[in-house]
Amino acid sequence: MTDTSAFIAGLPKAELHLHIEGSLEPELMFALGRRNNVDLPFRSVEEVRAAYEFSNLQDFLDIYYQGAAVLQTEQDFHDLAMAYFDRLAADGGVHAEIFFDPQTHTDRGLPFSVAIEGLLSGMRAAEARHGLTSKLIMCFLRHLDEDAAFNTLRAAEPWLDRITGVGLDSSEVGHPPSKFEKVFKAAGERGLLRVAHAGEEGPPAYVWEALDLLHVDRIDHGNRSLEDEALTARLVAQEMTLTVCPLSNHKLCVVDDLTRHPLKRMLDLGLKATINSDDPAYFGGYIGANYQAVTQSLGLTRADLVTLARNSFTGSFLDEERVALHLQAIDAYAAGPV
Ligand code: ADE
Ligand code: ZN
Repeated sequence: MTDTSAFIAGLPKAELHLHIEGSLEPELMFALGRRNNVDLPFRSVEEVRAAYEFSNLQDFLDIYYQGAAVLQTEQDFHDLAMAYFDRLAADGGVHAEIFFDPQTHTDRGLPFSVAIEGLLSGMRAAEARHGLTSKLIMCFLRHLDEDAAFNTLRAAEPWLDRITGVGLDSSEVGHPPSKFEKVFKAAGERGLLRVAHAGEEGPPAYVWEALDLLHVDRIDHGNRSLEDEALTARLVAQEMTLTVCPLSNHKLCVVDDLTRHPLKRMLDLGLKATINSDDPAYFGGYIGANYQAVTQSLGLTRADLVTLARNSFTGSFLDEERVALHLQAIDAYAAGPV
């Protein structure tokens, strides 16, 4: 391990953009398929991995929704979450704010309770096993309509004290944030924080809408904001956190080469960028691999890495005292011998 790799591995970090369904590794997909008698359209783990060649977001989503069909019981969601948290802990992760897509599961007949109870149980077990903390963000699928999102918000009512926020994901182009203005307003009135995928494939106008119509607390991805100077200035002035996902961007052809990834430019412009894995089982690596890859391809310095790790906590939904403790831990680590 090089000095920089070791530095990244030990750097305390939080993950703010992780779809738990996107952490379903092919091995677990097959194990759950067998456990639940769900047939998969693949014969082997190798065949699954070979199918992970995407030319855009929709290519990926088609296969990702298919894979989620093996998740049937609370135990399955618990196991999925634990497998992710084990990987996070191994990468120096100490906190995660994880997305889940309830509609992917309720639309195939699972009660709302199954996914959320399994995930909450995995989150408690991860805290006991690794001492890491986590929060849950419920995403609405934007290719479905706003009524369906309202139904999901209603189904979530008994668990709202354990859900930190709502998000917006799935096929971006053609499904602008404005389509979900009312349901985001309702979520805000229920005390939920708000985030939205915007500017991954969609235009800067979608990022404006996420800010002005959905009143988001963070932007997920946000890459295409850089095409609009006034928007970039607004994001800098508002200290808006961007949850950037480098390996995802490369796999989904949002960037053609990691050496041309905008992360370093974002930092130099004063944007509050963070590094995240998005759907690590599909995109070739967890949070540590994302840090390592951009550090190599963009020549990030230790100061950049410390900024990114600090942003992951100041951009988190943790309370101020906890954020301060994590920042102290980063500073102590950066001043140490590694
Ligand atoms: N759902 C899972 N991963 C996603 C991504 N990168 N963009 C939009 N929706 C998603
Ligand atoms: Zn995402």
